[in-house]
Amino acid sequence: MSDKFKLETMRESARLGGGEAQIAKQHAKGKRTARERIDALLDPGSFTELDPFVTHRASGFGMEQAHPLTDGVVIGWGKIDGRLVYLFAQDFTVLGGSVGLSHGMKIAKIMDLALRNGAPLIGLNDSGGARIQEGVDSLAAYGEIFMRNTLASGVIPQISVILGPCAGGAVYSPAITDFVFMVEKTAHMFITGPEVVKTVTHEEVDFESLGGAGVHRSRSGVAHFTAPDEAALLAQLRWLLSYLPSNNLTAPPSVTPTDDPKRSTPELEEIIPADPQKPYDVHAVIETLVDDGEFLEVQLDYAKNILVGFARFNGNPVGIVANQPDYLAGVLDINASDKGARFIRFCDAFHIPLVTLVDTPGFLPGTEQEYGGIIRHGAKMIFAYAEATVPKISLILRKAYGGAYIVMSSKHLGGDINLSLPNAEIAVMGPEGAVQIIFRKELASAEDPQTIQAEMTNHYRTELANPFVAASRGYLDNVISPAETRYRLIDALDSLRDKRISTPTRKHGNIPL
Ligand code: HXC
Repeated sequence: MSDKFKLETMRESARLGGGEAQIAKQHAKGKRTARERIDALLDPGSFTELDPFVTHRASGFGMEQAHPLTDGVVIGWGKIDGRLVYLFAQDFTVLGGSVGLSHGMKIAKIMDLALRNGAPLIGLNDSGGARIQEGVDSLAAYGEIFMRNTLASGVIPQISVILGPCAGGAVYSPAITDFVFMVEKTAHMFITGPEVVKTVTHEEVDFESLGGAGVHRSRSGVAHFTAPDEAALLAQLRWLLSYLPSNNLTAPPSVTPTDDPKRSTPELEEIIPADPQKPYDVHAVIETLVDDGEFLEVQLDYAKNILVGFARFNGNPVGIVANQPDYLAGVLDINASDKGARFIRFCDAFHIPLVTLVDTPGFLPGTEQEYGGIIRHGAKMIFAYAEATVPKISLILRKAYGGAYIVMSSKHLGGDINLSLPNAEIAVMGPEGAVQIIFRKELASAEDPQTIQAEMTNHYRTELANPFVAASRGYLDNVISPAETRYRLIDALDSLRDKRISTPTRKHGNIPL
């Protein structure tokens, strides 16, 4: 056999992974192969593979009988929209994509390259988990991956895409990464499968209800993005990357703006009802303000009382955090705090300025929240905003009561530019509740308490609960009209482009977890 012939035979063998029959099985399950997924994700012809000839070195339990090339994972680099990314794609056709030592060390190799060269790391996960036949070597491989995930956190964006099973301790690599994508129906993530759950807790639950995309999108918050099929999911991933810098030492990528920076936004007056009790959808506010109405929402079905996501102002990426008056009145609760804090920290790590839109009655009262640790979770939001050194702009749309006024990127937590619309209400608490407390005696002895309540509420609103009190103290930098809002935000972002501040030297802070 000539060397050339051997190379081609070896390449073909690596390309086929587990072979035609396994590929057919993969397709029958509605899943693509690792290589088909790579082709769908990357710019055409941009993929360079490493380690196609790696095999396992295990023996026992029949392992010595076959040494499939790649060892069940395809690794390499390529381009997305012309920008370098590193990736691994587990190949379920080889030993169920299970992670043995060689497989794991291939992933570790590509992670090292991504970190050293400052480019995002993408993992396409489809695996039966730890390769049972390889025992502790398989666990060691996972440990190496977790270690690298942690060291790379905040240095390069790390993205996990779950396209099949991801079970047991294997879930913890995606969990450490910045964003988790899950495809519907075929992707499942759980610590223990339905059988173990039944044995331990006697609960009857199927794969989908335990760890499907729907559960992780809306209930657990583990999945940041989901889609009905692989093609749609990978398209979302490409969209996400368009907002992200390649690493923590570069700026997020700008695009040539296609929306007028001076565009007037009088629509806000219609969208935001003057009556503070009336709900509205803050999506409409975001879409009015940002370039071309384009907003990539993160975790859109989880803790819907707060919205987080990416958009652009005059071509430059920003992270948006917005209370959602349309859901639980935009109250801050445990899940909203976790969601907001994690997003704020991601943006801060990667130089993405934060624009915060405030309309919240405060923190959610109740035993469920207190017992669940709202004190500890709410503190994450404060910590995340206060420690963030990226440009921080806030706009109070309507309500900013109590602790929530402070939390939501206020001047006191290092907000750079703090703005408000003229109808905003900023106070220790809402006018009705405030009047009931400070005029309790008067209300109790009054012949017509309703009239007194109405009068005092009105008085409180005009005297205390308006933005001009905060503006008179410089807590707000300005009160602006709805029509000029987009331009004012762009102007503020421009002024903060070269913001530099330093924080005290320390090993790291201790965010309440
Ligand atoms: C070795 C595995 C494997 C594994 C699957 N295979 N998982 N081989 N180690 N963990 C093999 C199967 O034997 C089979 O080989 C092939 O992959 C395809 O698997 P199927 O079962 O035919 O596929 P499917 O019906 O789609 O079921 C997929 C599955 C199931 C649900 C993932 O394979 C499964 O339950 N596997 C075991 C999962 C598991 O318990 N993993 C350990 C988790 S604990 P043949 O030769 O028949 O084609 C863990 C700890 C990590 O991961 C700790 C890290 C800190």
